[in-house]
Amino acid sequence: MKKKLAIIGCGGIGTYHLGHFLQYGDIIDLVGFCDLVKERAEGFAAKAGTGEVFTDYVEMLDTVKPDIVFVCIPPYCHGDVERNLIKRGIHFFVEKPVALDMALAKEIRDSIKENNIITGCGFQCRYSNLVEPNRAFVDANEIVYVECARMGGIPGTDWWADKKLSGGQIVEQTVHQFDIIRYMMGEPETVFTMNATGFVKNGPANYDTDDLTTTVVKFKSGVLASISTGCYVTGGNAFDSKVTFSTKDKRADLRILDKFEIFGEKPAAPDEKKEGGFVISNDGGVASASGDSIVYRQNGDAGLICDRTFIEGVIAGDGSKVRSPYEDAVKTLAFVLACNKSIETGLPVNVDDMLA
Ligand SMILES: NC(=O)c1ccc[n+]([C@@H]2O[C@H](COP(=O)([O-])OP(=O)(O)OC[C@H]3O[C@@H](n4cnc5c(N)ncnc54)[C@H](O)[C@@H]3O)[C@@H](O)[C@H]2O)c1
Repeated sequence: MKKKLAIIGCGGIGTYHLGHFLQYGDIIDLVGFCDLVKERAEGFAAKAGTGEVFTDYVEMLDTVKPDIVFVCIPPYCHGDVERNLIKRGIHFFVEKPVALDMALAKEIRDSIKENNIITGCGFQCRYSNLVEPNRAFVDANEIVYVECARMGGIPGTDWWADKKLSGGQIVEQTVHQFDIIRYMMGEPETVFTMNATGFVKNGPANYDTDDLTTTVVKFKSGVLASISTGCYVTGGNAFDSKVTFSTKDKRADLRILDKFEIFGEKPAAPDEKKEGGFVISNDGGVASASGDSIVYRQNGDAGLICDRTFIEGVIAGDGSKVRSPYEDAVKTLAFVLACNKSIETGLPVNVDDMLA
């Protein structure tokens, strides 16, 4: 039995989801598109060749009565949209970050549970085919240290540069890296984040976010991570963004939605050993080896599987295969909002305190 699906927010990420829905004619009917900017909703209806156009989402919910809604609105717009969906018993998928404050996220999380709503969140990286080898590596080896950096520029949406609207780069963007590291390493205990400003000189007029942040994370398992992110970059040579999982004798580099590469499972030939990176050799320095690596590459669009898994969960009345339900996304939100709190207070922040 097909489900009726509607979209609230017909901007950038809405377009990405619409591209998936156009391939799901077997399981959904596209019934409604809503955006505050009518032309955007009209553009979606034109692409879909079906569905009614709205600028008021409450009117859409009560007119087309969807079974499923995808909520694709900016970070600062959450709250009443979710309350209205829950009140009507509508299952929904919501884009990350699910909110900008913990009180709202916890209220929505609890209300979802009370009303048996099936949810999904836009952490599509969890559905990448790179997750399985990454999980196998993490399970088979004792990870001691995780290092992550995601350096880029400033996205074009009008709300992004204003930290109170977007949450800033950790919360809005690098939340994907925080989420996948959490997915692999388990729950974080404490974060300590420092920020830097003053390097972005020609940003948008409303730019007031951090140019760069570095976060130290202590996980409950005892593992340490450092996660850096910046929007100061204007050229691709500025940084090699990746996540490294380091063990005592091997490492794995994850380039999200691109490549997962393991170093050290195939031994390096003796003449490939390098002695770089240390001031004095024979003093505990173990230089990096450059033996053959094992490489896994991204196949296809993980978001296609992410969206379909959620929709199939609604059809089956069972959301257990959804890898990022709302309740779990709230834990990732606590992780990233703890970083912002640490910047504001200058102190380490306990992540469980954010969830209490
Ligand atoms: N999962 C991912 O990889 C990914 C990628 C990009 C963006 N996102 C997330 O998606 C969200 C939206 O980002 P975007 O780039 O699409 O922004 P956008 O500004 O391009 O689009 C958002 C749209 O929502 C509309 N909107 C806002 N409030 C509304 C309301 N109450 N009713 C109807 N329409 C409303 C706006 O008019 C706008 O057209 C953000 O939270 C962002 O973090 C996720």
